[in-house]
Amino acid sequence: MTAAPILSPVAVDPRALGKVAVLMGGHSAEREVSLMSGGGVLAALRRAGVDAHPFDPAERPLWALASEGFARAFIALHGRFGEDGTVQGALELMGIPYTGSGVLASSVAMDKVMTKRIWRAEGLPTPDWRQVASVEETQAAFDALGAPMIVKPAREGSTIGLTKVTAREQCAEAYRLAAHHDPEVLCEQFIAGDEVTCPVLGSGAAAQALPVIHIVAPGGNYDYQNKYFSDDTRYIVPCDLPAGEEAAIQALVLAAYRTLGCRGWARADVMIDAATRRPYLLEINTSPGMTGHSLVPMSARVAGLDYDALCLRLLADAALDNPLPAPAARGGER
Ligand SMILES: Nc1ncnc2c1ncn2[C@@H]1O[C@H](COP(=O)(O)OP(=O)(O)O)[C@@H](O)[C@H]1O
Ligand SMILES: [Mg+2]
Repeated sequence: MTAAPILSPVAVDPRALGKVAVLMGGHSAEREVSLMSGGGVLAALRRAGVDAHPFDPAERPLWALASEGFARAFIALHGRFGEDGTVQGALELMGIPYTGSGVLASSVAMDKVMTKRIWRAEGLPTPDWRQVASVEETQAAFDALGAPMIVKPAREGSTIGLTKVTAREQCAEAYRLAAHHDPEVLCEQFIAGDEVTCPVLGSGAAAQALPVIHIVAPGGNYDYQNKYFSDDTRYIVPCDLPAGEEAAIQALVLAAYRTLGCRGWARADVMIDAATRRPYLLEINTSPGMTGHSLVPMSARVAGLDYDALCLRLLADAALDNPLPAPAARGGER
């Protein structure tokens, strides 16, 4: 285990942050988790003295944010229409700074296939995969990648629509389940070994990886139930990995974050091959969970930042991709 970076709370006047919308709920399959995340964030920001209000884009049009005088948005939405660049784009148009990654990094990170292409092109390790569009292609992927194989939707989260395929006959059902959630489906080589996750906080040169969490799920099955509702899953942080491994994972995750152009915060999921001890990047979440069970707050706490201070720090980092006025306001030659 390496020494965790010590994070200090940001010195910020909560009132200077203006009227803040905590975006929660939304239209994605992860709506329920988002409501839990948003509720936690809202309470924390209010405790810190921020003028924070809940805002559910499933109940009101997002455009109301501009007319209601919101100065900033804390994005506690997960999945599609929240974590995928769409809400980020709308906030850009309204000129309202928001937490987390910008339009491009959000939408790339939402798509596991696109993310893996970039990581591979940059020489970062990720399990071998095939993008498939039919049962036949899923079977061909199984023949090529070998057993076991993971079949999952490219743009979903919370382990929704995911199957571990151990026999060829399972390919049809696994493909149909994944395709039910997203027409874009990916088959991925299964990495047997330790599962870890590592948050990153900050932007550009100031971005830093937080302590790695080792996740030990009952039966090695870290599914939706175990993620959000089980008391049996163990989260080991400070982690118990062999010396040097934590630092290597932190460096890898920081590179994965920077390569995609992420900012603000994110959390990458990594599998460590039991035989070779090589780490493989699975995905990066640009709007990670912030519930009572969630992993980023757990890791930040070990680094010296409690839940309330973490929320305030993320909010203070809210930004726009493009802080220039919109073209209509600027005028110009066209
Ligand atoms: N290639 C893989 N090898 C081993 N386990 C995997 C693999 N892909 C996914 N998993 C397991 O499934 C979980 C969810 O997969 P992940 O790619 O993180 O998608 P999401 O969290 O968006 O549903 C992981 O946390 C891990 O436990
Ligand atoms: Mg994941």
